[in-house]
Amino acid sequence: MPTFKLDGQEIPFEPGDTIIRAAWKKGVEIPHYCWHPGLSIAANCRMCLVEIKSARPMALPILAWDEKKKDYVETTKNKLQPACQIEVTEGMEVASKGAAVEKAQGAVQEFLLLNHPVDCPICDQAGECKLQDYWLAHQKKLKRKDTEPVHKPKAVRFGPTIVYDAERCIMCTRCIRFCDEVVGDHVLDMRERGNKNEITVSPGRELDHAYTLMTEHVCPVGALTSKDFRFKARVWFLRSAPGVCNGCATGCNTWVDYDPRYQRVYRLRPRDNEQVNKFWMCDAGMMTYKRFHEDRILTGRVRQEGRVVEVPRDVAIEASAKVLEKSQRLAVVFSAQHTNEDNFVLGKLGREHLGGTALYLAALSPESVPGGWKGDAILRHPDPNPNRAGATAVAGGELRSTADLAADVAAGRVDAILSLGWAAGESVEQLASLANVPHVNLSSNIGPLTQVATVVVPVATTAEASGTFVNAKGMAQQFQRAVNAPLGIKSAWETLIEIGKRVGREIAFAKLPEVRAAMPATTAAVAAAS
Ligand code: SF4
Ligand code: SF4
Ligand code: FES
Repeated sequence: MPTFKLDGQEIPFEPGDTIIRAAWKKGVEIPHYCWHPGLSIAANCRMCLVEIKSARPMALPILAWDEKKKDYVETTKNKLQPACQIEVTEGMEVASKGAAVEKAQGAVQEFLLLNHPVDCPICDQAGECKLQDYWLAHQKKLKRKDTEPVHKPKAVRFGPTIVYDAERCIMCTRCIRFCDEVVGDHVLDMRERGNKNEITVSPGRELDHAYTLMTEHVCPVGALTSKDFRFKARVWFLRSAPGVCNGCATGCNTWVDYDPRYQRVYRLRPRDNEQVNKFWMCDAGMMTYKRFHEDRILTGRVRQEGRVVEVPRDVAIEASAKVLEKSQRLAVVFSAQHTNEDNFVLGKLGREHLGGTALYLAALSPESVPGGWKGDAILRHPDPNPNRAGATAVAGGELRSTADLAADVAAGRVDAILSLGWAAGESVEQLASLANVPHVNLSSNIGPLTQVATVVVPVATTAEASGTFVNAKGMAQQFQRAVNAPLGIKSAWETLIEIGKRVGREIAFAKLPEVRAAMPATTAAVAAAS
């Protein structure tokens, strides 16, 4: 691979790479605002200016202050070039440090902050703002401008999810380019010139496509903020765990941002993965974090004489064992919302140990997603389940639907049910026949399956347990636990082992790696993906 030199370091590049892209691929950051690896080049912020040492210097005539003469004198300086726009050539030598470059970086910073309000204490971007970071790295000076800054609109509603602060905006146009180039919706544009310019929404429109939260994510400063996240948490208190989105079969890679003090998840952000989601996520996917804390099932539930009674988890496990040990024709319901590991242990208990031969898959249908679900040509897969492929592979092949299960129960072909998860493609009314047989359900949230169960045992969410999902392309992706499950609650696979013990069936897995090691289907999926 050809190479070039950046600050003395040999950096490889592919033909067509710009200086900044080649450096970024190698993990070296050249300061920038308007450049984004997933967007076209605008080259409008000038923060990425570098000195190209190997080329014939382009001498710019300038006036410089001469201390001896106490006057300005005519001289020249080497013209700096934007690293985001200049393509690398073999043997090129580039300096992104040194007096000339650092002076330019300081000057660009000063220019960008001339009218910028000192909002940091109340700005949601504080702690992850490029203006703060680069001010410290490249300017570190107090404002020289002592006149009133130009005032512009603040807290402008752009749409249902995003608020705009024009005074903080540095006109990098990343938000416009994201809407144009990734979403294909020219809903944002710029108006006015110079220090009066601002981002505007197309007349008669709102910023309301399926990827609006990404505009907040690509904004390098606090000009666009998400209504959902603003004023909820300070980012320096948050930690991040690598996750995989629950929203659909694409399996976008995420960062799960949580506050370790409260063991609470505050937001999901895209984790770059060029093969799966590049740099993006959809709004619905980013909002799936709400299920980690809302509509949770935190105690056991037992149906007694038609009424649901909350009971301690232990009592629910005991009640589950009683249901399962009596069953002769057990239905086992795998879950397209649960991990391979959970589904695998469900199969062990339900099929191998309890002899269940009627196998089904509980999966959301596009119509059963609250608000509906539609795939698109960007990221969103038509299947709103994160792990249909994994659950099916672990179960050993195609599974019947929960509608089939309802029909089998109505026809008397099933005498008990062991099901995983809350999700189903049918409503509670459509699944009403399931309430006619004893039904043990393991679930983290309230949903149609929990509402027709006889016994519900609470389990952890995917933020509270590590696991594996297989996406629609057959890629097995592992994610890590972010927060602790509420006291006493365990992952579904651990809970299934506990229930197994109560019915005298020993499943000898103590740790997640042991479960994984016993899973040939998943191993195959991992191999196919890598
Ligand atoms: S709102 Fe943010 S992303 Fe859009 S132009 Fe302004 S600073 Fe850039
Ligand atoms: S496209 Fe699917 S996997 Fe990606 S963020 Fe949206 S819902 Fe999640
Ligand atoms: S990052 Fe190069 S000009 Fe903005």
